[in-house]
Amino acid sequence: MTAVAILAAGRGTRMKSDYPKVLHSLGGRSLVERALNSCELINPSRFLVIVGYQADLVKQALSHLDGIEFVEQSEQLGTGHAIQTLLPILGDFNEDLLVLNGDVPLLRPETIKELLTTHKQHQNAATLLTAHLPNPKGYGRVFCDVQNQVTQIVEDKDCNAAQKQNHRINAGIYCFNWAKLANVLPKLTANNSQQEYYLTEVFSYLDGVMAQDIADYLEIIGINDRKQLAAAYDILQKRVKDAWMSAGVTMVAPDTSTIDDTVELQADVIIEPQTHLRGNTSIGAGSRIGPGTLIENSQIGENVSVLYSVISDSIIESNSRIGPYAHLRGEAKVGAGCRVGNFVELKKTTIGQKTNVAHLTYLGDATVGEQVNVGAGTITANYDGVKKHPTTIGDRSKIGSNSVLVAPVNLGEDVTVAAGSVVTEDVADDSLVIARSRQTVKPGWRLNPE
Ligand code: UD1
Ligand code: CA
Repeated sequence: MTAVAILAAGRGTRMKSDYPKVLHSLGGRSLVERALNSCELINPSRFLVIVGYQADLVKQALSHLDGIEFVEQSEQLGTGHAIQTLLPILGDFNEDLLVLNGDVPLLRPETIKELLTTHKQHQNAATLLTAHLPNPKGYGRVFCDVQNQVTQIVEDKDCNAAQKQNHRINAGIYCFNWAKLANVLPKLTANNSQQEYYLTEVFSYLDGVMAQDIADYLEIIGINDRKQLAAAYDILQKRVKDAWMSAGVTMVAPDTSTIDDTVELQADVIIEPQTHLRGNTSIGAGSRIGPGTLIENSQIGENVSVLYSVISDSIIESNSRIGPYAHLRGEAKVGAGCRVGNFVELKKTTIGQKTNVAHLTYLGDATVGEQVNVGAGTITANYDGVKKHPTTIGDRSKIGSNSVLVAPVNLGEDVTVAAGSVVTEDVADDSLVIARSRQTVKPGWRLNPE
């Protein structure tokens, strides 16, 4: 079986960043994780990630993935030097090694699989992915003989004027017969403009190297600076949105919205302008999201509408209406057929079905039953300055406007709270609670200015 090595030890100077380049995020996932994910169809025998610059940060960022072996390249002396660190680790391994640059995030898993198939069919010493780029600046140029065998790769910085005219570039994705590669790795020199040990120098020593052109060159874009990072995001977004539109999702103004590739949508979802869907989010059939909405890591049921709102780590069941201007900021669970209206904030709060929280309300650490009406301006005072406390409100209760429920407090079923109450003690089922001072009127009273 094939082993995989991902090059992730470089600093990425051109990013001008304190963080390793491969940890920069592209649509919610780091560049290196995307490179790793592009191997999902090949089931490698070993998964080696070569780390160096801020190695601990890179290891930590990948710690949620199983089966990765980290290899330290203590000094970053070039991509060839990085692969040389595998010599003692792979030893006399007698299969193929797939090498990927950690900064090539848009490869499709199918492309990697095809590369491997070609490599095995032709029993090549090495097979590499190449592309014809309209603007090849920054990439190594691939030179072949008449039999289309690779003879040499020359880095952009080392190209003379004539070599720069060659637009066929090296994608930084290679499959090697390990034994043959291991044989020539010790020959690398740092005889080039950057005085680094280039992996690409091995092609001057290997025979039987095939270049496989890629149909869609956008797949192999390498990220060296922030402009390329933004360009890759555009490519990724176009891919994701085109796929959802083909699957029956309406996007009213696709260029104004963004959708992470981890999001799941059903047919007949309508994405209105300026809508951003992130992380582990799913939206049920017939729901209308936006305009002006951000939803992260949340599950939205069918036929829900969300207008100008922000929702994180929450669940909304079917037929509910959210917004405009609602903020569900974590662990909110809204039942079916509810209304959560303008300037309502929910945190760690569960709301039963057909309950309305229509205006100007904060519910935190609360459990609200079914068919409850929470009046405008209701606040759960859940924080005593040290600890958070819970509030419960039973089914069919009605909370009068501008009430404060001072937690911990439990209101039973069918309770009515008079407007403007400050409720500090539990209330039994079927009760009216009035917790405010009586109105006083003094007839014939007038302020007497001296
Ligand atoms: C490399 C290729 C170039 C190719 C391009 C494709 C070389 C010499 N050149 O150039 O032919 O067209 O990729 O994107 O290989 N890294 C290490 N250790 C090091 C140096 C780099 O692990 O000592 C890692 C980096 O973290 C990065 C990857 O190797 O993920 C590529 O390095 P980078 O410096 O970006 O290479 P390029 O100049 O883009
Ligand atoms: Ca690069």
